[in-house]
Amino acid sequence: MSLFDAFKYDGLRVVVVGAATGMGNAVARLVQDAGATVVAMDRADFELEGATIIRVDLADKASIEAAVGQCGGRVDALFSCAGVADGTPGIERINFIGHRHMIKEMIGAGMLGRGSAIGLISSAGGLGWDRAALPELLDFLKIEDFDEAAAWCHANGKADYRWSKQAVNTYVAHEAFELLKLGIRINAILPGPTDTPLAQANAATWLGFGTDYRAETGVAPSTPLEQAYPLVFLCSPAAAAITGITVVSDAGYFSSGLTESFPPATGITNYLSGRM
Ligand SMILES: NC(=O)c1ccc[n+]([C@@H]2O[C@H](COP(=O)([O-])OP(=O)(O)OC[C@H]3O[C@@H](n4cnc5c(N)ncnc54)[C@H](O)[C@@H]3O)[C@@H](O)[C@H]2O)c1
Repeated sequence: MSLFDAFKYDGLRVVVVGAATGMGNAVARLVQDAGATVVAMDRADFELEGATIIRVDLADKASIEAAVGQCGGRVDALFSCAGVADGTPGIERINFIGHRHMIKEMIGAGMLGRGSAIGLISSAGGLGWDRAALPELLDFLKIEDFDEAAAWCHANGKADYRWSKQAVNTYVAHEAFELLKLGIRINAILPGPTDTPLAQANAATWLGFGTDYRAETGVAPSTPLEQAYPLVFLCSPAAAAITGITVVSDAGYFSSGLTESFPPATGITNYLSGRM
C-alpha cells in the first residue's frame, strides 16, 4: 500500500457510457491503464481491447434496462459520458434522462453501492443552473418517470442542449445528499472546447468558442484525455471528500470572464451563468 493508491483503479470494475469516441473513450482507456476492468457502452459499433462491449441507446428506456441487465455485477464507478448536440432527436433523453435512468436502475439492482462513484459530463450550456432557472429545474427533477420527463421537455420547449446540461448540473448537486447516505458520490466536469468528433461536427460554434482566450494564453482546445483526467480523479477513492460538484474544466475561461481579467469573456460568461 502507498498513499498514492487512492488515485488508482486496481481491482475496480468500471462502466463507461459513450465509450466509442471522444471523452468517454479517453476515460475508458485511462481507467484501464489505472487498473480497472471496463464495461464499455455506446450506441455506435466499436472495439476496445480488453473491455466488455455492450450496445445501448440512451434515448430508449428498454435499451438502457437491457444494457444494465447485461452488465450485471458490482460497478465501482459509472462514467456517464455520452452526449449529442442540438438538432439530434432525443437529445433530452440522451444527454440527461437516459443517464439518470441508468443510474436509478443500477442503484435499484444493487450494482452501484457503498464506495462507488458516478461521473457525468456537463457543458458551458449547463452554467446558470443555480440562478434564475433553479426552481423550474428542481420541479423538472421531480418528474422521475423516463417517458413523462421526456414528454415534459417537449411540451415546455426544453428538449434542447442547454436545458439537458442545466439538468445534469442540478441533478448532480441535488442527488449528492441522498446518494451519500448510500455511500455513493456523484460529480461532473464542465469541459471547455475539446477536440472530439462531436466538437468537430459543430466546429464553428464549439471549437471556435474562446479562440481569442486561447490565442492570448497560448493554449489549445483540450484533448479528450485532458478532460478524462479530472473526471477519472473525481470517481477515484482519492476524491472521497468531493460530491455534488460540477468542476469547470475550461482552462480558466469563465473565471477570467467573471472576474474581468479577460474582459472579452465577460459578456458571454455573465449571460451563460445567468448574471444578466
Ligand atoms: N467536445 C466538446 O467541446 C464538449 C464541450 C463540453 C461538453 N461536451 C460534452 O461531452 C460529452 C461527450 O462528448 P464528446 O465531445 O466526447 O463527443 P463524442 O461524439 O466523441 O462522444 C459522444 C459519445 O456518445 C455516444 N452516443 C451518442 N448518442 C448516444 C445514444 N443515444 N446512446 C448511447 N451513446 C450515444 C456517441 O456514439 C459517442 O461515442 C457530451 O455530453 C458533450 O455534450 C463536449
